[in-house]
Amino acid sequence: MNKLDTALVNSALKAAGFDTTESVKDADIVLINTCSVREHAEQRVLSHLGHLKHIKESRPDMVVGVIGCMAQRLGDKLLEHEAVNIVCGPAQIPRIAELVTKAMNQRKKELAVTQKVLKPTSDIQTQALEDFESSYGIDDRDISGQAFVRVMRGCNNFCTYCIVPYVRGPEMCREPKAIIEQIKKLADREIRQVTLLGQTVNSYKYEQGDKTWCLADLLDAAGDIEGIEWLRFVTSYPSEEFFDAILQVMADSPKVCSYLHMPAQSGSDKILRAMNRNYTAGRYLEMLDTARAKVPDIAIAGDFIVGFPGETEDDFQATIDLTKKAGYKNAFIFKYSPRPGTTADKRLEDTIPDEVKQRRNVELLAMQEKISGQLSRTFLGKEVTVLVEGLSKKSNRNLTQNGSPQLVARTATDYIVVFNGPPMLAGQFVKVKITQTSPLTLFGQLVET
Ligand code: 5AD
Ligand code: SF4
Repeated sequence: MNKLDTALVNSALKAAGFDTTESVKDADIVLINTCSVREHAEQRVLSHLGHLKHIKESRPDMVVGVIGCMAQRLGDKLLEHEAVNIVCGPAQIPRIAELVTKAMNQRKKELAVTQKVLKPTSDIQTQALEDFESSYGIDDRDISGQAFVRVMRGCNNFCTYCIVPYVRGPEMCREPKAIIEQIKKLADREIRQVTLLGQTVNSYKYEQGDKTWCLADLLDAAGDIEGIEWLRFVTSYPSEEFFDAILQVMADSPKVCSYLHMPAQSGSDKILRAMNRNYTAGRYLEMLDTARAKVPDIAIAGDFIVGFPGETEDDFQATIDLTKKAGYKNAFIFKYSPRPGTTADKRLEDTIPDEVKQRRNVELLAMQEKISGQLSRTFLGKEVTVLVEGLSKKSNRNLTQNGSPQLVARTATDYIVVFNGPPMLAGQFVKVKITQTSPLTLFGQLVET
């Protein structure tokens, strides 16, 4: 979601005549896009701001803006920071060019946050977001051939640990026509893979006349667009509504990638209840069985929070058990971090010591690594089709004899594949034969066609 917002802000500022620099030292304006999901992310922003304050001592004209969820959460408190000139929440980004220009010309601080963030957005604001999104939703400039398209904003779930509903506001689904038009525009610009985004993307619902659109209908319609080859969607909430229809379109359409990111958060029913997640561990695992029965090659990823208030060793063991049974391709594991204003923070004490959270994190990660390693090894000797993203991080160090650098790509099932090849392959589909594996990466050789 933040990558998309960054891409939108980049395009809007470019259209207003600004350009990006390689180094902060050359910048007239520095914008930091922020996340509030965990405290650690916010602390890193504060330390960046400390650094910028130092730079501004010799460059007082530099304009610094904080955008995104932390801007919305802290509002005028953040504006008081000596380094900060602009504070702009996620729903206010259509105003970014105006805010930057004003801050540069008038030398005063600019605050743009949503006042009643828990109320549905006004029609005027929704229209402004819609116009902004459809004019600037161009592409992820970092990865050629790929783009994100938001299908919904906000979230109504109020999981007790989560800050998202308090900073991104209530759920709002975009009109199918606008989404499809946007994907057509992207296809015309040689985008080959589109990822549909929503906090609970599988609950997408839009009533139009006597038809109710769900995510499966969107995937179906997007699959008809010439030029689009791969469609993904993140993130899914474990909910029965529409689940079968979404799996069906995944099974039927060669364009819909066999990949599901569906966080469980915990394997303990007691903790799931305390988190206000509306499913049990048993039901969650049954949903994974259904998914595998309908889409046999599906790869599934999950998220977990360890050390939620009241999590006992037994509760944690239940999470380990669920992980063993789930057979995830990979899982993202986080230590519980109390977020101000959430129900968990208000009603439950953060009782689990950090050492215990850390130990559980390491233990769960080790268990998952074993499973990921086993799944990765099944690719040895196989040929996979991948969409090339570009140079790998180690591209300079790992040159082949004929000088081609190391590239990074992904399979439809979201496995990361590393191989040597010409950089101009970025944005294209190629075949790679897998010769070596690690838990999170497949290594191989380009199959010449
Ligand atoms: N503490 C730790 N992890 C969190 N997540 C969300 N809120 C918190 C929190 N307060 C995790 C969840 C979610 C992912 C994006 O971040 O696992 O799926
Ligand atoms: Fe947060 Fe829960 Fe909404 Fe996900 S579903 S964004 S965890 S409140």
